[in-house]
Amino acid sequence: MTAISRVAAPVRKPTSAETPRLAEVLASAFQDDDPVSTWWIPDADRRRATLRPFFELSVETFLAHDMVFVDADTTGTVVWGPPSNPLGVEDEDAFGARLERIVDGIDLPRVFEITTTLAEQHPADPHYYLQWAAVLPQWQGRGIGSALLAPVLGRCDREGMPAYTEATSLRNRRLYERHGFTFVGELAPAGGPPLYRMWREPAAR
Ligand SMILES: CC(C)(COP(=O)(O)OP(=O)(O)OC[C@H]1O[C@@H](n2cnc3c(N)ncnc32)[C@H](O)[C@@H]1OP(=O)(O)O)[C@@H](O)C(=O)NCCC(=O)NCCS
Repeated sequence: MTAISRVAAPVRKPTSAETPRLAEVLASAFQDDDPVSTWWIPDADRRRATLRPFFELSVETFLAHDMVFVDADTTGTVVWGPPSNPLGVEDEDAFGARLERIVDGIDLPRVFEITTTLAEQHPADPHYYLQWAAVLPQWQGRGIGSALLAPVLGRCDREGMPAYTEATSLRNRRLYERHGFTFVGELAPAGGPPLYRMWREPAAR
């Protein structure tokens, strides 16, 4: 376990054996009041059944890029993609096939609508991509999310590299604005809620 930062809580990189726990943290954070996940899977029970395996697949995919971070107690996680492959997926066919096995057919068109809309407007300029940020509901609002963002944002500043993400609500958009991201446009999956495209220029050296 490598201590990476002590901004507000120690932040470290997890091992692949921790994938199920990370998926649990992500699934809990996105279960109840995230506008995008509740639109994607409107039924709460189906959402509960789907989010865990979905996030296991995503965490597994991004761990290959070594840019996943957790706090010491694993109450939160952030998942980044590198400039060389910000969307993380190496084998799109294999990823798509696993996704289709995980997601109930009734919810599949919406997940493809979201991923296609996001991919179409993904910035072409090199950047680190924040794919997921999540803190267990009972631990939110205590600075854990901010501490988890710090290592890669510091790296962005040191390397002179921008960062990009999509905020899924006006509330989490405020968190990113506090960390130097600027709103650069809205995305709207057909029939779905707005997402906010957020771009962060590195701090001037
Ligand atoms: C967004 C999130 C990772 C931030 O972690 P955190 O430890 O709560 O964040 P911090 O304590 O460092 O900062 C607090 C800010 O986070 C954001 N935030 C906190 N709880 C949130 C929630 N349930 N939903 C959305 N944003 C939230 C707000 O901007 C908050 O500031 P505010 O209290 O002035 O509104 C975490 O709240 C979370 O998992 N939320 C649900 C999932 C989510 O929205 N993920 C981001 C998707 S883009």
